[in-house]
Amino acid sequence: KPLVFSGVQPTGNLHLGNYLGAIKKFVALQDTSDCIYCVVDLHSLTAQLVYEDLADQTRSITAAFLASGIDPKKHIVFNQSRVMQHAELAWIFNCVARIGWMNRMTQFKDKAGKDRENASLGLLAYPSLMAADILLYRATHVPVGEDQKQHLELTRDIAQKFNNDFSDRIAGLGVGVEMQVGEETVNGYFPLTEPVIGGPAARIMSLRDGSKKMSKSDPSDLSRINLTDDADTISKKIRKAKTDPEALPSELDGLAARPEAENLVGIYAGLAEMSKADVLKEFAGQQFSVFKPALADLAVEKLAPIASEMRRISDDRAYVDAVLKDGGERAGVLAEATMKTVRDIIGLLQG
Ligand code: TYM
Repeated sequence: KPLVFSGVQPTGNLHLGNYLGAIKKFVALQDTSDCIYCVVDLHSLTAQLVYEDLADQTRSITAAFLASGIDPKKHIVFNQSRVMQHAELAWIFNCVARIGWMNRMTQFKDKAGKDRENASLGLLAYPSLMAADILLYRATHVPVGEDQKQHLELTRDIAQKFNNDFSDRIAGLGVGVEMQVGEETVNGYFPLTEPVIGGPAARIMSLRDGSKKMSKSDPSDLSRINLTDDADTISKKIRKAKTDPEALPSELDGLAARPEAENLVGIYAGLAEMSKADVLKEFAGQQFSVFKPALADLAVEKLAPIASEMRRISDDRAYVDAVLKDGGERAGVLAEATMKTVRDIIGLLQG
């Protein structure tokens, strides 16, 4: 059975991009895989160390997971900082990965801005912790939005370098599994994890600017639909979304130079679980004065129940905390089993 891991940071409001690009996929993968879904609170510290309400934000992401349909009994839901092995493996990966690899990450370059010398060391090492999250459970599949693709490639590079640097010890301890690397079959301890990216909603763009991704940090609230927005707010934001004056085309090619139009079609497709091509078949030749209200109705129909369920679950703080505690205990057992082996592979004295 595939083992799925993914994480969401507990900072800022969850928006439609997070939902369609990630959480909706988390829900779908539950039927076919064992899943571990993590609120990555340690990652949030890389941008800013002190938050007023990190604990409540952690609970709120958890409530969003549960409200969207993640089953915390069949699968594991927890917050990262409870399982200290994440930080332990990240340290080891800091010693496996190279500074040059981290310097090349576009997210680091974007977030650090011009004053790179002044960015936190944690922000630079962010992908190392992310690789640790995934490889601590030797996850085989990671559902994420398009913006995380580069980090998942780095995760594979770290796994491969670890497997290669310690190949003799891995073979000697008999803890490796056979895997295919290009043409070669090698024996490694960490799997080369597959990203699960794709579909019409892997990269949802800002409603105000089709060249920027929808993001928690955009100063304009009109740029995104938050999972907690009420029906009127959702409709208003879609009505005000930037578009062009043309009608919708009948073929995908017709969206090529129309990023805002393409984004709205992608959102419709993601919510309705259709392809963009099928959305165009339905709306070919229609103006936005017709398409936008249809999209608003669909968005309200799909998102309003999640928002109200999120509110209901959030009111029961003891329940949310119990889910995270139970999930943390179960994740901790798996994590420690991996770390025991990793410490043996490296030759750290334990026992
Ligand atoms: P985060 O918290 O920024 O975002 C959570 C998920 O939402 C996806 N996403 C989007 N998808 C489509 N369109 C958008 N506009 C959009 N914006 C965000 C993200 O791709 C992500 O899947 N580094 C990760 C958290 C993380 C993680 C991990 C993920 C930490 N450890 C291990 C997977 C596995 C992040 O910052 O996601």
